[in-house]
Amino acid sequence: MSNPIAVAASASPVTGVTIHDRFRAHHDSANLRQPKVLHPLENEDLRLLILENISQDAVAIFRSQGWHVDHLSKSLGEDELVAKIGTYHAIGIRSKTKITQRVLKAATKLLVIGCFCIGTNQVDLKAAAQTGIPVFNSPFSNSRSVAELVMAELVALSRQLFERAYELRTGIWNKQSKGCWELRGKTLGIVGYGHIGAQLSVLAEAFGLRVLFHDVINIMPLGTARQVESLEKLLQEADFVTLHVPESEDTINMISKEQLAQMKKGSYLINNARGRVVDIPALIEALQAKHLAGAAIDVFPAEPSSNGAPFDDQLNSWASTLRNLPNVILSPHIGGSTEEAQTMIGLEVAQALTRYLDYGSTIGAVNFPEVDLRAIAAEEAGHIRVCHVHKNQPGVLKLVNEALSPYNVEKQYSDSKGEIAYLLADIADVGARDLPGLKDRISSTDANIITRLLA
Ligand SMILES: NC(=O)c1ccc[n+]([C@@H]2O[C@H](COP(=O)([O-])OP(=O)(O)OC[C@H]3O[C@@H](n4cnc5c(N)ncnc54)[C@H](O)[C@@H]3O)[C@@H](O)[C@H]2O)c1
Repeated sequence: MSNPIAVAASASPVTGVTIHDRFRAHHDSANLRQPKVLHPLENEDLRLLILENISQDAVAIFRSQGWHVDHLSKSLGEDELVAKIGTYHAIGIRSKTKITQRVLKAATKLLVIGCFCIGTNQVDLKAAAQTGIPVFNSPFSNSRSVAELVMAELVALSRQLFERAYELRTGIWNKQSKGCWELRGKTLGIVGYGHIGAQLSVLAEAFGLRVLFHDVINIMPLGTARQVESLEKLLQEADFVTLHVPESEDTINMISKEQLAQMKKGSYLINNARGRVVDIPALIEALQAKHLAGAAIDVFPAEPSSNGAPFDDQLNSWASTLRNLPNVILSPHIGGSTEEAQTMIGLEVAQALTRYLDYGSTIGAVNFPEVDLRAIAAEEAGHIRVCHVHKNQPGVLKLVNEALSPYNVEKQYSDSKGEIAYLLADIADVGARDLPGLKDRISSTDANIITRLLA
């Protein structure tokens, strides 16, 4: 009997067309629902202010939408921003520009804020939400960069590479193999199996490491990694322990004297997570007692605010002691600092802003309910999308649905976060002449913050 798969994929002797060609043609023409490209009905001439030298790739995405972009390499102070921001619908910043309540008050046209970085402390998130402005950032674009740095640190620690390289720079030849190990066959313990921990798990297995991880939630392991039930068990078994948890009440000083004592003699600790996750004076003791064979630390409880600033005992009382310990790699919070991560951040935040402005989606917003709807299909020509940011109070949906009641509501979704609620609704067959009246009716409720229509 012939192989059915081979028969299915073979070309017809008559037409020369394979079943795959037929499937593709059918799929392209009949099954794929082409999404309709939406745009804000008002704000045809959207203006974006992009500060702090954000990547040109991001700027290109905005310009491809036909939006006007003012792109500055520097950040602006509060007074400059207050004077300037009133004409813009969106702003893109990194960590230096502060978006305060005063700035938000002056931002009468502002619809959305993009933080082209990981943190969002520079924005008054609550005030932004109360003004109806979602804030987007890019928390996971640098996961791969951090995972790769950990791989480098594993090799460098186990080969005492920084010691040997430093000695040779000072003119000392010191070739030795004592206390230097291959990674192959050793056990890596990953604490926190999220974006970074999971990436690292895959890379580490390719090096022949056996991977254990501990997480507060049950996670499907990648490859042959194994989840262990307690931090203690991981610490007891691992030759290398690497931390990838967020900073929270539960994780501050999660590695302290007791946990260091549970680690194997001669093992190594790596912290690229957050500075306060490790009790550094306790780590110094464990290194001085030679219980640990080395450590790599990229994040610190207090970090200098600018390049060139000292990393000394005034900043962290133990800094000079830590700096003088052998086989300790200290790096200035560079885990996620790569060109690739910067490009990814630019693309991710630019896409989030575009999705919000064009489609109303708040997926990924840090201060807003996350709401999205499946796309309106291209053939649904008369459909429009209502985006209604309102105060989270009783009775709003009843009033909004009354305003929508003359039309067929194809789909709608609403969610709230604290004082703010957000509703998206797609409605059918709305004539162009109805639009201003519809928008007035929805936005005239007491609870209205911002109402936009997209078509
Ligand atoms: N060094 C750098 O430059 C750099 C760059 C990016 C991220 N980070 C930091 O790395 C850390 C991890 O980032 P991520 O993107 O992988 O985060 P993530 O949110 O994707 O994953 C964190 C994981 O930790 C787990 N977790 C939380 N509390 C825990 C606990 N008490 N015990 C065990 N597991 C716990 C969570 O369940 C989650 O799976 C964060 O602190 C982040 O700030 C540092």
